[in-house]
Amino acid sequence: TQAPVNVTVTGAAGQIGYALLFRIASGQLLGPDTPVKLRLLEIPQAVKAAEGTAMELEDGAFPLLAGTDIFDNPKQAFEGANVALLVGARPRTKGMERGDLLEANGGIFKPQGEAINAGAADDIKVLVVGNPANTNALIAQQHAPDVPAERFTAMTRLDHNRALAQLAKKLGVSVADIKKMTIWGNHSATQYPDVFHAEVAGKNAAEAVNDETWLAEDFIPTVAKRGAAIIEARGASSAASAASAAIDHVHTWVNGTAEGDWTSMAVPSDGSYGVPEGLISSFPVTTKNGKYEIVQGLELNEFSRTRIDASVAELSEERDAVRSLGLI
Ligand code: NAI
Repeated sequence: TQAPVNVTVTGAAGQIGYALLFRIASGQLLGPDTPVKLRLLEIPQAVKAAEGTAMELEDGAFPLLAGTDIFDNPKQAFEGANVALLVGARPRTKGMERGDLLEANGGIFKPQGEAINAGAADDIKVLVVGNPANTNALIAQQHAPDVPAERFTAMTRLDHNRALAQLAKKLGVSVADIKKMTIWGNHSATQYPDVFHAEVAGKNAAEAVNDETWLAEDFIPTVAKRGAAIIEARGASSAASAASAAIDHVHTWVNGTAEGDWTSMAVPSDGSYGVPEGLISSFPVTTKNGKYEIVQGLELNEFSRTRIDASVAELSEERDAVRSLGLI
């Protein structure tokens, strides 16, 4: 049998962590033939809670779970990591300025990037979930100069899945009937869910909808503001759906996209579609043999171009802000 794959999860005692770890242990992250070893990173105050979760993981008697170790030190937690899920982050609290938020997250993602650089396995794949996810991924990446830059990605798969669900509901079809959905830009309210290249049972999705007002005034804001709507309804932020999207992101990265389909991942730009090189921005990507490629050659109409540019401008501003704070 295969040697276990080391999966490091930060923020393991948080609410996403609680939903995520059991799905990793059951084999849904990497596949039914791959044993995993969990390496959990928490802040010292939350180590005890992580130990409780580790007890429950043990009680799950997962045949694929080769062990769970808990750390409060990033250098140890990322030692030998093949996959790193960076979930723990500093949330924005009332009255907090953007600079303070970026500064606090720089204090988390800089040492984690350094620890990945120092000790992760050669095949390390990093997914940043903790917000502001794209810019946190950029900070970690910039402190891991020996790791290929493209191994640092951020999560827009939850937005992608939300867009699939809303479009399926509108058209009265199954999410499985929809291919080639795209999220562009930042995982924030400026993100752009694009249905102009999507296909529904082989037909163009925008043509199937045939209602630009619905796209502009209903679909896009519903997807972009779904996180706030969940908080409003549930009294807590989305956790199980976020964990599910993290599973999807890594599973697709490792196992590949289906023929004739693609997914959305925030990845370092190579300059495609006019997105400044190096920004970690969401694109349509195909994946194969553990590597992703940005889908090339899509034509962007005015409706799409304007919205992509606005979200990318926000990413540039975030990059400028972390630069001027000396975080990268
Ligand atoms: P939570 O507050 O329940 O858990 C966060 C955990 O991270 C806590 O246990 C905390 O102790 C830990 N943590 C804080 N600093 C740490 C550090 N330096 N090292 C290790 N652990 C650390 O939050 P929740 O709900 O689990 O969300 C986590 C993050 O995911 C948030 O930033 C949230 O905004 C983000 N998120 C991102 C989504 C996306 O689509 N990209 C979707 C939903 C949430």
